[in-house]
Amino acid sequence: MKRNIVITGGAGFIGSHVVRLFVNKYPEYNIINLDKLTYAGNLANLKDVEDKPNYKFVKMDICDFDAFYQLMQDEKIDGIIHLAAESHVDRSIKDPFTFAKTNVMGTLALLQAAKLYWESLPDKYEGKRFYHISTDEVYGTLSMNHPEGVEPPFKTVASSEGHKAYGDNFFYETTKYDPHSPYSASKASSDHFVRAYHDTYGMPTIVTNCSNNYGPYQFPEKLIPLFINNIRNRKPLPVYGKGENVRDWLFVEDHARAIDIIFHEGQVAETYNIGGFNEWKNIDLIKVMIKTVDKILGNPEGHSLDLITYVTDRLGHDARYAIDSTKLQKELGWEPSLQFEEGIEKTVRWYLDNQEWMDNVTSGDYLKYYEDMYKTI
Ligand code: NAD
Ligand code: TYD
Repeated sequence: MKRNIVITGGAGFIGSHVVRLFVNKYPEYNIINLDKLTYAGNLANLKDVEDKPNYKFVKMDICDFDAFYQLMQDEKIDGIIHLAAESHVDRSIKDPFTFAKTNVMGTLALLQAAKLYWESLPDKYEGKRFYHISTDEVYGTLSMNHPEGVEPPFKTVASSEGHKAYGDNFFYETTKYDPHSPYSASKASSDHFVRAYHDTYGMPTIVTNCSNNYGPYQFPEKLIPLFINNIRNRKPLPVYGKGENVRDWLFVEDHARAIDIIFHEGQVAETYNIGGFNEWKNIDLIKVMIKTVDKILGNPEGHSLDLITYVTDRLGHDARYAIDSTKLQKELGWEPSLQFEEGIEKTVRWYLDNQEWMDNVTSGDYLKYYEDMYKTI
């Protein structure tokens, strides 16, 4: 069946993996990558699909209601997979307005344009879909009532060797929203607007909340690509606080596969959590990255441990994220494909092999931006 699908934020990290998957898997679809190309958008992420006949790039700001409404009509859009967002917590602490504008008002502009266009059609919302990609950070933070780690109740392929849980509680689809950072507050707000368009107007919406992603093409402001690049260049590794915060990591291609399954088979108005049961304390993860980079570069074991530099903690730094994705696994049969240690090795090799990509996105200005925010202690 032919479909006309807009993927917003397709030039970013996760979006580029979703665009690549859809363009390659669905030659009969018309895939439009809509992106403003902010500092985080990079068309070099999609070089391998840019000439495909079912792919088109449109440079547009999601806040531009008129332009998007026009695009909906011109391209007869029947599906929207919405990833465009300001995505970095540290930037949201410095500049919350941009996050409210893009993440909240931008999402609202897309919803309203979709509503006007779809309601003008004879079959209205039949066969349409508005799918919002969100984060587990909207649920707030979990306590660490097992700081040394315990045997977890769940495991998946993604779970690391000797996998531990650092609390006996998890984020479920029913967990009450309790965002703390300006980033997560803006994502929570946009999730609420998406659900409101279902509940009020009957729009067929879906929201998914995913844990931290890692893999190729991630902008090197996020922990994993930043640290791989710094280890390679013998630069300090700024660990916030004591490095005890816990994040739950999922390989980005597994997230993209989940998005494909949920877009096609997910129940309208439902929420699905996406994650691999793969909790890591930051400092332990950093040591794995150091070991992997040193091994690949032929350095002696422990060579780069001296780069670890403890710096002032992030304001309002959430202690622990850990997501329960049982519903998605049971109802739609998704499961992660890659075990974490394999995924990290694959990721490290990708960044080391793609130094040109890294050099293109790394700039002195970017480092200066943080100069006054984190001081070595
Ligand atoms: P990213 O920062 O790498 O990419 C965001 C993309 O959105 C960029 O291409 C950027 O140019 C584009 N964009 C930003 N503002 C725009 C605007 N006003 N109009 C049009 N395009 C705009 O982000 P990411 O890490 O790929 O995250 C994608 C989505 O997934 C976000 O909605 C994020 O909240 C969500 N998410 C991310 C993670 C993660 O670990 N990275 C986890 C769960 C959910
Ligand atoms: P990040 O990649 O920014 O993702 P998020 O804040 O959305 O979870 O950060 C992951 C974890 O790593 C988080 O606990 C903050 C920490 N961190 C550092 O310790 N140092 C850094 O330089 C960065 C970017 C993150």
